[in-house]
Amino acid sequence: MALSRSAVWNALASHKKEIEQLHLREMFRQEEDRFERFSIQWGELLLDYSKNRITPRTMELLVELARSVELEKRRDEMFEGAPINSTERRAVLHTALRRPQGYLLEVDGLNLSVEIADVLAQMKACCERVISGSWKGYTGKRMTDVVNIGIGGSDLGPFMVTEALRPFAHGNLEVHFVSNIDGTHICETLKKLNPETTLFVIASKTFTTQETLTNAMSAREWFLTHAIDPSHIAKHFVAVSTNRSKVVEFGIDEANMFRFWKWVGGRYSLWSSIGLSIALFLGFDRFQELLDGAHAMDEHFRHEPLERNIPVILALLGVWYNNFFDVSSYAVIPYDQYLHRFPAYLQQLDMESNGKRVDKQGQRVAYATGPVIWGEPGTNSQHAFFQLLHQSPNFIPADFIVPLKTRNPAGEHHDILLANCFAQTEALMKGKNEHEVRQELEAAGTEPSELDALLPHKVFPGNRPTNTLLFNELNPFALGSLIAMYEHKVFVQGMIWGVNSFDQWGVELGKQLAKAIFPEIQGEERVSGHDSSTNALINRYREARTKKMAD
Ligand code: F6P
Repeated sequence: MALSRSAVWNALASHKKEIEQLHLREMFRQEEDRFERFSIQWGELLLDYSKNRITPRTMELLVELARSVELEKRRDEMFEGAPINSTERRAVLHTALRRPQGYLLEVDGLNLSVEIADVLAQMKACCERVISGSWKGYTGKRMTDVVNIGIGGSDLGPFMVTEALRPFAHGNLEVHFVSNIDGTHICETLKKLNPETTLFVIASKTFTTQETLTNAMSAREWFLTHAIDPSHIAKHFVAVSTNRSKVVEFGIDEANMFRFWKWVGGRYSLWSSIGLSIALFLGFDRFQELLDGAHAMDEHFRHEPLERNIPVILALLGVWYNNFFDVSSYAVIPYDQYLHRFPAYLQQLDMESNGKRVDKQGQRVAYATGPVIWGEPGTNSQHAFFQLLHQSPNFIPADFIVPLKTRNPAGEHHDILLANCFAQTEALMKGKNEHEVRQELEAAGTEPSELDALLPHKVFPGNRPTNTLLFNELNPFALGSLIAMYEHKVFVQGMIWGVNSFDQWGVELGKQLAKAIFPEIQGEERVSGHDSSTNALINRYREARTKKMAD
């Protein structure tokens, strides 16, 4: 039966009507144990979900919803390597990449544990050589810089992680990321680099991605204008890919290729050799700690009852707002500057996974699926978009992510940061009602006429839900757990909505059309084969381009 006609879906819809008038401020006043009831401590991670518009009955019904789609069975299928990515007929096994070696799991006739251990050993050896300086460039110098050239999952994860874990870097290498086809990205990056001491990591699952190959070609040209002899490429270019023949065709030595497998989705690939730039920047042991943190979360997700399962709870709360409060936006606010790329990383993870309009059977779904994910670190975000979070007509749920300890204990900065974080979730929850605003204005001696005019502007409705995720410190293990937590949240939501969270056909049409427009842009003829808007835009650019060439 269609999900939105199921008994539990209807029960949730009726329940929403019953509780929608309840205000969180009242709920906290009445329930002294609300925090204890709606929080989970797992290792060093605390999830406080008490500031959500829920009652115990809400959670019961949401868990029932998860059971109604056989979530536990679906979860086990993923871990066991069933081909749950149905449109690409693939298993989904990023979890195997972080599992301690020695398990038995075969996919496509390969023993995964052995395969993965082989590649990890190759990565480790490479890291040791590059970091120690025994990997020499074409003039005999050690490497000082690594440039990861990749896009999407071959960029966002490694970039986010290297930024997040910068304090853990060994310091012998700087890392750079080039993703955009806009030549500015590669040109500005190369300006800072010395070809004699730069190692390029060309990261592409398919090794057919236009942006990555174009950037890689430009990097190669730049390198060869200095190094001249193509045989030097072997000392400065390595590839990470599933596509051996394309890597060789590009001119990278097979010995310098780090493989991975089709059952690792691009946005789930930072745990594979796509994480090479992470391992080079932090050292292999730190990369291993990242994997260990993710594995610990996998174990939690696999074995904890749904009622106490952090990714499951987060996913269900998301479904609650998305489908029963018609809220299609979700903010993620890290109170940690090192996590400044975390929202961008989550956008791909969540939106490319669950931004789908048909279910696994190809039927249109009758309900909303993945929300818009966005965010920026606090406190910067407070001075940018928090106005809307507090006073817009509709609410936007938000996750606040915050470490207890800072790596930079400067003065009172961290205390002020955390005070702001806690104040924001309190303010969003409590709001400020008319009575309070009136009292405040009167105490400030505001004239009655001015008071009435100001009052509605100063009211905060409150009742705006947030989760707070607290952990001890942002280290490789904690970050691994945090990322895996969101991966599993996305998985659970995809299972509930019945979509395939592991394909991404929606990115193809634009790519196809760009391939057709590219030669038109460079051609001699005026373009007329598109709609009037597209024709005009292409022709306007062609004219500007021709004029520029003539100047
Ligand atoms: O365009 C979307 C996408 O296919 C992502 O899913 C993927 O992470 C990215 O492109 C890069 O792909 P590749 O690693 O094959 O270059």
